[in-house]
Amino acid sequence: MTAVNAQPSPLPNSPDPCASADCVTAEALLAWRRSLLQQHPGGSAAELDWLLDLGGGLGWQALQQLHLHPQRPVVLQRSLVALAGLWQRHLQEQIPLQYLLGVCPWRDLSLQVAPGVLIPRAETELLVELALQLPEAPPGLWADLGSGSGVLAVALARAWPHSQGLAVELSDVARQQAAVNLQAAELAARVQLLAGSWWQPLAPWWGQLQLVVANPPYIPTAVWARLEPGVREHEPRLALDGGADGLDALRVIAAGARAALAPGGGCCLEHHCDQADAVAALLAAAGLQQLGRHHDLEGHWRFASARAPL
Ligand SMILES: C[S@@+](CC[C@H](N)C(=O)[O-])C[C@H]1O[C@@H](n2cnc3c(N)ncnc32)[C@H](O)[C@@H]1O
Repeated sequence: MTAVNAQPSPLPNSPDPCASADCVTAEALLAWRRSLLQQHPGGSAAELDWLLDLGGGLGWQALQQLHLHPQRPVVLQRSLVALAGLWQRHLQEQIPLQYLLGVCPWRDLSLQVAPGVLIPRAETELLVELALQLPEAPPGLWADLGSGSGVLAVALARAWPHSQGLAVELSDVARQQAAVNLQAAELAARVQLLAGSWWQPLAPWWGQLQLVVANPPYIPTAVWARLEPGVREHEPRLALDGGADGLDALRVIAAGARAALAPGGGCCLEHHCDQADAVAALLAAAGLQQLGRHHDLEGHWRFASARAPL
């Protein structure tokens, strides 16, 4: 009988995977899943399936096949007891699954994340698309302000293999995590991590940056205080709280952009859904040109782009 293999295929001469890993029948796994959802009605089936995928190695397609072959053995990367423990911690302590598993899939990447580092968000995937489209030619030198886990720096360095990147981050914990992710992607030699606040550590490169991206903290403090507990209590406030109107960081970034960008250099910023007018005004006041505003996939104005004059 063929096993639904949630792990990489064993080598030809390796022992039966069921002898060395957790193995259950498809039927037992489906019953386990049903019982967990019944025990914890607050839990979402989609999130439990995500845990089975990321924590157990059982992807969506394999999960669907369980129904077709109830007697088939399934090899998981973690035991059901371990997975149930993670699920309970997630529900009882509101800890994001990404922190419990230490991993976050994002675009075509799998990033390591830990408490103290923002979990990369799906909408930020579009910031990469915007950054890739803005320059007429791949930039030689670019910067990522507030790099967090290093998610944008990894994506841009991979997309522009002949470029050099500079990634600025104030938090020591986040900078260490970015270093791990850049190292894992074999990009450490092409992206320099810099400690400090926004433009300040980039002073030696002011006037030379051909492209700058930033997803700064932009949530107004009053909105931050009402965020769901999983975010407010577990994700770093430094990464989210943008001050009274959410624009504290964006003001500094816009104000320094003209001096930091090379002539004609571009910048792409993420912001809160109601800040498009304010961010455009900040960029215009800083002397930037060719202002653009861009939607996220929910139709909210989420991104701004601009260029320094030639
Ligand atoms: C919204 S998070 C974005 C993280 C990552 N770029 C992403 O998109 O997932 C903002 C990041 O800015 C960092 N940050 C906050 N204040 C900063 C400052 N003054 N200078 C540099 N980075 C700062 C935070 O620590 C956090 O990692």
